[in-house]
Amino acid sequence: MALLYAEQVEYLDVEEMQATHEEEIKILNEVEKLATGYIINKSNLSQLEEKLDEYIAHVKEHFANEERLMRKYDFPSYEMHKTAHDMFLTDINYAIKQWKNSDDVKKVINFIFKSPEWIVLHINTVDAPTAAYIAKKMALEEE
Ligand SMILES: [Fe+2]
Ligand SMILES: [Fe+2]
Repeated sequence: MALLYAEQVEYLDVEEMQATHEEEIKILNEVEKLATGYIINKSNLSQLEEKLDEYIAHVKEHFANEERLMRKYDFPSYEMHKTAHDMFLTDINYAIKQWKNSDDVKKVINFIFKSPEWIVLHINTVDAPTAAYIAKKMALEEE
C-alpha cells in the first residue's frame, strides 16, 4: 500500500500543477518504501536520505511554481495560499533540522508519514480553487 494515491487528490485543470502533484506523490511513496525498509532492517539509509532530499527539493519547487503562476495571473487569495505553503515549509524544515542535529532520520520520517492528511486537504481546498481561477485566465489569454 502506498502512503498516498494520486486519485485521493482532486484533478486540477492546470496541467503543470497536476503533473507536479502526480510526480510529488510518486516521490513521497518512494520515500515511504525506503523509510519502511529502514525502520524494519536499518537498510539503505543513504538511499533514504537521498530520496528525502529529492522530495524536499521537489516540494520547494512545486510551491514556488504555484506562487509564480498565482502572481502571473493575479490570483486574489495569493497571500492566503502562500502562507499555507510557508507554514508547511516551516514544519518540514524543523523536522529536517531535528533529523540533521540528532542524526535520527525518524524525526523526519514521522513528519512525512503524517503529511498526506495536509497534502490532500491543501490540494482539494486550496490548490483546486486556485487552479480553476488560473485555468480560466489562461483560456482567456488564448482567445
Ligand atoms: Fe500544489
Ligand atoms: Fe498550493
